[in-house]
Amino acid sequence: MDILSEQIDWAIEKSAAVISRYQHKSGAYPASPNFDMYNYSWIRDGAFIADAMSRIGKYESADNFFEWCSNLIVARRDAILAGEKLNARYTFDGQDPPGEWGSFQLDGYGLLLWAIKQHIKRYDLNDNLYAEATGLIQHYLNVHWQEPCFDWWEEREGVHAATLACIYAGLAAYDHPSANTVKAAIDLPKERLDASLIICGLLDAVDLSAMEKTIKDIETNLTGPDGGVYRYAEDTYYGGGEWPITTGLLGWYYLKIGRVNQAKLKLNWLIEQMKDSGWLPEQVKTNMLHPEYYDQWNAKWGHPANPLLWSQAMLLTLANELSKN
Ligand code: BGC
Repeated sequence: MDILSEQIDWAIEKSAAVISRYQHKSGAYPASPNFDMYNYSWIRDGAFIADAMSRIGKYESADNFFEWCSNLIVARRDAILAGEKLNARYTFDGQDPPGEWGSFQLDGYGLLLWAIKQHIKRYDLNDNLYAEATGLIQHYLNVHWQEPCFDWWEEREGVHAATLACIYAGLAAYDHPSANTVKAAIDLPKERLDASLIICGLLDAVDLSAMEKTIKDIETNLTGPDGGVYRYAEDTYYGGGEWPITTGLLGWYYLKIGRVNQAKLKLNWLIEQMKDSGWLPEQVKTNMLHPEYYDQWNAKWGHPANPLLWSQAMLLTLANELSKN
């Protein structure tokens, strides 16, 4: 089925509106405004969101986020230079959140560097924009990249390929001499099958020929009956539904390898999940892998996060990439 361009325009407008409406005046993006546990700004989510907004011409939204990040990083200059670790998420006014939450995650900082550099190139901005912060992040990643940290899903500690790919992309964007050493440490065959691995190919951290098996396995083992993509086979979080983020990543990857029709199907799937509201949730309930776990999460934290700003951002990125074809 082909998607009407009006539907795509509608989905872009709605997604951008959701992101703009909930961006905090400080520049921070809440992960999800209606889900208490996600009332923080994650660096990983934010890097993808800012990149998406930058792509579609929402220059100020992206810039405000980057400036917010830059300020919180420069404020931690002494801690960074003393070898201390940074958080994965912050309160909207840039403070460290209370409590533990698998807070040591390096991927977001790599993605942030990558997204800032894309933004600079896209708008032909001064290369020195946010120079102090980007310098500190490079230093931080260079010091810590070999240390085990939490994965994209904040569940497993280790040195994960998806994390290394994000670090590589950030360091490579700034021509840092360690970039290729980080890239060389990626060992895809050793990884658990996980849709976050798609980022390795998207950020050129793994050759596309070496990605083939992983992509095939994701298609066979991590794709639901309607085309939505799961995170990983054992996912029990809210029953383990299909995620717009991972579905969007696979669509974006299809465009990278010229499979335009398959990318359109993924975009179509994302638009269908937006229903009338225009909101994209963190995950979709229809074809859960482990439905017996849904109720206990619902009792603990309420309904799954909706809207999730990173999900809306993936729609924007996929639609933007499709428009280049
Ligand atoms: C996901 C993370 C995400 C966070 C905020 C978690 O459940 O696993 O990847 O950064 O939510 O959206």
